[in-house]
Amino acid sequence: MVAYPERLTEGIRSHGDDRPKSVPKMKRQAKTRAWHHRHVNDHYVRQASEQGWRSRAAFKLMQIDARDRLLKPGQLVVDLGCAPGGWSQVAARRLQGRGRVIGIDLLEMAGLDGVTFVQGDFTEDTTLAEVAVALSGRKAHLVLSDMAPNITGVVVSDQARVYALAELALDFARQHLEPGGAFLIKVFQGAGFEDFVRAMRGVFRSVATRNPDASRDRSRECYLLGRGLKQSA
Ligand SMILES: C[S@@+](CC[C@H](N)C(=O)[O-])C[C@H]1O[C@@H](n2cnc3c(N)ncnc32)[C@H](O)[C@@H]1O
Repeated sequence: MVAYPERLTEGIRSHGDDRPKSVPKMKRQAKTRAWHHRHVNDHYVRQASEQGWRSRAAFKLMQIDARDRLLKPGQLVVDLGCAPGGWSQVAARRLQGRGRVIGIDLLEMAGLDGVTFVQGDFTEDTTLAEVAVALSGRKAHLVLSDMAPNITGVVVSDQARVYALAELALDFARQHLEPGGAFLIKVFQGAGFEDFVRAMRGVFRSVATRNPDASRDRSRECYLLGRGLKQSA
């Protein structure tokens, strides 16, 4: 008999017809997951609107920052894929009027105090040239990337697009971070994940995975945090 890995046989039992079959259990699990998804999503959407944050994503950055203490007054922070502005809001608030956030997005974004906004495609040289002007030769303390390409539903090509963008963001961080700088990026587990973690390890002294509570409902989403840009990178 073929021994299938346990996760493939989970919920499949052969006790005879009088026993409850696996389908109701799986349906229950799917319902529980859907309930959890709605619950977590609704909770943070409500909180964001009550507290004046532009996105529920703001809580993800706040939760990561509560643990990792990334944001400090006086820093220069680059926020890739910043619209509608939740992360930039969080960063600008933590800088307490000292330092600057430079946000980049394809979409328009309403102005925020302490944030210089560059509208454009991060993958295009013209946008990078505008970002270089905003940086005016300074190195950043922190590069954030919550960018997500448009999803087509075709998992293989979606993952490839996620990691093509992630590679460019990593390269940007390598070029524009100061030596002790940090890089936080959203990625999706699956094809390309391990290779990207390896690439991050080539650039940073430490690389860690973060799964903030506010993103738990998004099962494949996680954040990678690289700290301590390697001199040789
Ligand atoms: C999940 S949203 C970011 C939410 C943001 N962190 C917040 O808290 O409001 C992802 C953003 O990435 C942007 N994006 C995706 N690809 C991009 C690209 N090539 N250049 C610039 N922005 C991009 C999208 O337009 C979108 O606004």
